[in-house]
Amino acid sequence: MEPIGAEGRDAMRGLLGAVNESLGAPMAPPWEAACREVPRHAFLPEKVWVGEDLKECSRGAAPGEWLRHAYADTAVVTQVNDGQTAAEVGERWASCSASAPSVVFRMLDMLDVRPGHRVLEIGTGTGWNAGLLAHRLGPGLVTTIEVDPALAAQAAGCLERVGLGAEVVQGDGARGHAASAPYDRVVATCSVRAVPPEWVAQTAPGGVVLVPWESPWFCYGLLRLTVDGYGGASGFFFPHSAFMLMRGQRTDLRIYRDVVRDSHVPVESTTRLSPGSVAGEDWAAQFAVGLQLPDVWRTWHDDSDVEGVASRLWLATTDATCWAAVDGDGRAPHRFTVWEHGPRRLWVQAEAAYGWWRGAGSPGPERFGLTVTPDGDHVPWLDTPDNHVPVRT
Ligand SMILES: C[S@@+](CC[C@H](N)C(=O)[O-])C[C@H]1O[C@@H](n2cnc3c(N)ncnc32)[C@H](O)[C@@H]1O
Repeated sequence: MEPIGAEGRDAMRGLLGAVNESLGAPMAPPWEAACREVPRHAFLPEKVWVGEDLKECSRGAAPGEWLRHAYADTAVVTQVNDGQTAAEVGERWASCSASAPSVVFRMLDMLDVRPGHRVLEIGTGTGWNAGLLAHRLGPGLVTTIEVDPALAAQAAGCLERVGLGAEVVQGDGARGHAASAPYDRVVATCSVRAVPPEWVAQTAPGGVVLVPWESPWFCYGLLRLTVDGYGGASGFFFPHSAFMLMRGQRTDLRIYRDVVRDSHVPVESTTRLSPGSVAGEDWAAQFAVGLQLPDVWRTWHDDSDVEGVASRLWLATTDATCWAAVDGDGRAPHRFTVWEHGPRRLWVQAEAAYGWWRGAGSPGPERFGLTVTPDGDHVPWLDTPDNHVPVRT
C-alpha cells in the first residue's frame, strides 16, 4: 500500500480527534487501531464529489484537497446517479458514499462485536467499513454485499490491496446472504423503511441487526434489534444518521407527475394545526408522525403560484391513491385550508398522529422501539414492546 505521507498523518490525527469529539469519548483502542491501520484514503476512488452541491474533486487535479476530504469527518460521495452520467439522467444525486467516520465508528461501537463473531454488512460501498470490521475480527468472518457491480469490484480490489480478508458478494442485500449464515451481527449501511425478514432469519439468537431507519415521512435514526430466536427481533431507535435508501425500497414519486390529476375533486376543510408542526423543524414530531403513517410521504411547495397560497404542504400515500394539501396564506397563523382526495383523509390522519404524540408527552425518537414479528410485521412501540404506537393505514 502506498505510504500516507506527513500530510496524511496530520490529517489522520485530526480525524481521530474529530471522531472522538463527536462520539463524546475516545473510541475503543481496537477501533482506533483499525482507523489508523485501514487508511480511509485507500478506499476512495480517484474522483469523488463533495459538499451540498456535489462538487467534483479529483485526486489527479487536486491531490491535497482530495486527501483533506479523505480524512475529514464528513461523508464523501463516491458514486453519483447509480454510475450513470449526469447527461444521461439530467441531475446529479449521490448513490454511494464513504459515510462520515464518526457515524461509522458510532455504528461499529453499537454493533458490539466480540472475537469470533460473524458479521454481514449490507451496502459495501467503498469497502472501508468492511475493512475496519475485518481488521478487528480477522479473516473469514466478515461478508459484505453490494448491489452495484462496479462498486463491489472496486471495494474487493481495495480490500485485497490492503490485505484484509472480507468476502465481497455482489447482489441484492435485501435477501441477505444465506450461504455464510448464521451471523452474530448484521449491519446495513443503507437505510431501510422495512427490515427484510431474511436479515432476522439469518441472525443467530441473541444476535444484533443494526440498520439506519427512515419512514417515507422522515429520514432519521438507527434501529438496533436483538434477535429473539423465535423468528422475531425487537429493539430501540437511536438518534441521528441519514443514509441513502436501499435500492428496492426507493420510491420516485412527484406530486404533479404521479399523484394529483385534473379530474380529482378534493374535499375542502380548514385546520388550526400548522402544517409546520408535523413537517417542520421539530424532528421528534416528524419521527413520531412518520412511525404512525408508514406509507405516507410529504413535500413542501413553498413557491406556490396559486393566488392567496404562501406555502403548501403536500401529503400522499406511497401508492399514490390518496393525497392532501394544506395551504397557508402567510397571514393567519392558526387557520389553514385543507384539500383531501382519496379513500383516506390524510391530513385528518396526520393530525391524529400529532395529537397522539403530544398526548404521550412529546417523546423523543430514542423512547421509541420496533418489533419485527416472525411474520415480518413491524410493530412500533413507546418505551416497552407492549405499549404499541397506533399505526394509521
Ligand atoms: C452509504 S453507502 C455504504 C458505505 C460503505 N459501507 C462504506 O464503508 O463505504 C450505501 C451503499 O449501499 C448500497 N446499496 C443500496 N441498496 C443495496 C442493496 N439492495 N443491496 C446491497 N447494497 C445496496 C449502495 O450501492 C451503496 O454503495
